[in-house]
Amino acid sequence: HEFTAPGELGEPSVEAAEVPEPGAVTVVVPTFNESGNVRQLLHQITESVPSRLPCEVVFVDDSTDDTPQVIKEAAQDCPFPVTVIHRDEPVGGLGGAVVEGMKAAGSDWIVVMDGDCQHPPSLVPELVATGERANAGLVVASRYIKGGSRAGLAGSYRVAVSRMATWLTKSLFPRRLHGISDPMSGFFAIRRSDITADALKPLGYKILLELAVRSRPRTVTEVPFVFQERFAGESKSTAAEGRRFLRHLAGLRTADPLARMVVFGLIGLTGFVPNLVALWAMTRAGLHYLPAEIVANQFGVAWNFLLIEKLLFRDRRVHRHWADRTIRFALLANADLVLRIPLIALLVGQFGLAVLPATALALVITFVLRFVGTEALVYLP
Ligand code: GDD
Ligand code: MN
Repeated sequence: HEFTAPGELGEPSVEAAEVPEPGAVTVVVPTFNESGNVRQLLHQITESVPSRLPCEVVFVDDSTDDTPQVIKEAAQDCPFPVTVIHRDEPVGGLGGAVVEGMKAAGSDWIVVMDGDCQHPPSLVPELVATGERANAGLVVASRYIKGGSRAGLAGSYRVAVSRMATWLTKSLFPRRLHGISDPMSGFFAIRRSDITADALKPLGYKILLELAVRSRPRTVTEVPFVFQERFAGESKSTAAEGRRFLRHLAGLRTADPLARMVVFGLIGLTGFVPNLVALWAMTRAGLHYLPAEIVANQFGVAWNFLLIEKLLFRDRRVHRHWADRTIRFALLANADLVLRIPLIALLVGQFGLAVLPATALALVITFVLRFVGTEALVYLP
């Protein structure tokens, strides 16, 4: 990944004015009850974009207030086309709205920005020009490189949360996010040809992360920007949005089968705890250890089932009724135990393996079978 030195913040760079062709950029703005902001935003865009770069603006609106009307009125003073897509049944939250807007975009470049004036429109031409110069597919406006800052991120609590989230996300996707210092940014330019719209499953705020991980744009570069104060109103982000973000992360991280198998295995390991606790309690209560083993195993199975349902196959639960899933999962988990002994006997007797390697191999084989079986028989239609 290559970094391109950006021009002075907010100042139109000369190169920026040379690159564009007609209808060069579609600005996509997700809005949720931003009636106090959209007029100001369109004003700012009018001031700083069309003279340097021909543009159109697409709002994707999930508002319950009069935001669409305010946009339409303000649009009459704009020297560029303004479209409002109002969604009656919003899916995917902010990210879903952005993907909707990208599908409606008519230009080769798409710039995504917030509707509350926290993202300076004067940077729009520079994002596109930088992308053209670097032949990049994605240009991120970053708060975390030299020249950028998060002045408008109110409160040390939000700053700390933002830092943590950025760190966590970067550690989960070291390769995909290489060269992106601010994967949480909501301000970026992307080439339409680099978006794989059908592969996207946006969920909440972090649409840039979704695009970087799933669409994998060719080259990524960054431009610094100063995150402004909100012009009017309040942030729409809530604690529920935070939980949605964690689910989004989990979904992205377990998109490939190998990662899913690792998570499956880790959850399986944690199942030892309820298993052993139950065994301890029952043998202490005087139960013979053999029936206790069998019952205790069900505690481990139940624990694993709950975690797997919550964390791993959350959006794949729809294919079967929960009772059906429970039975299938329990059968597979117990078949694993029943299969293991004859498998070890086979490996020792027929293939001449020593007991320890045979046991290790049998554990691996039954684990993989159980994972594949769980995917195919419990969480697929
Ligand atoms: N259509 C639609 N649907 N728009 C939404 C929704 C939704 O469900 N939720 C929020 N928006 C719009 C808001 O109206 C606003 O225009 C923009 O998305 C950003 O929402 P804010 O509520 O202002 O977000 P923020 O300021 O807390 O967070 C911003 O900065 C973060 C970095 O600190 C966003 O840009 C985040 O993506 C970014 O991570
Ligand atoms: Mn905001």
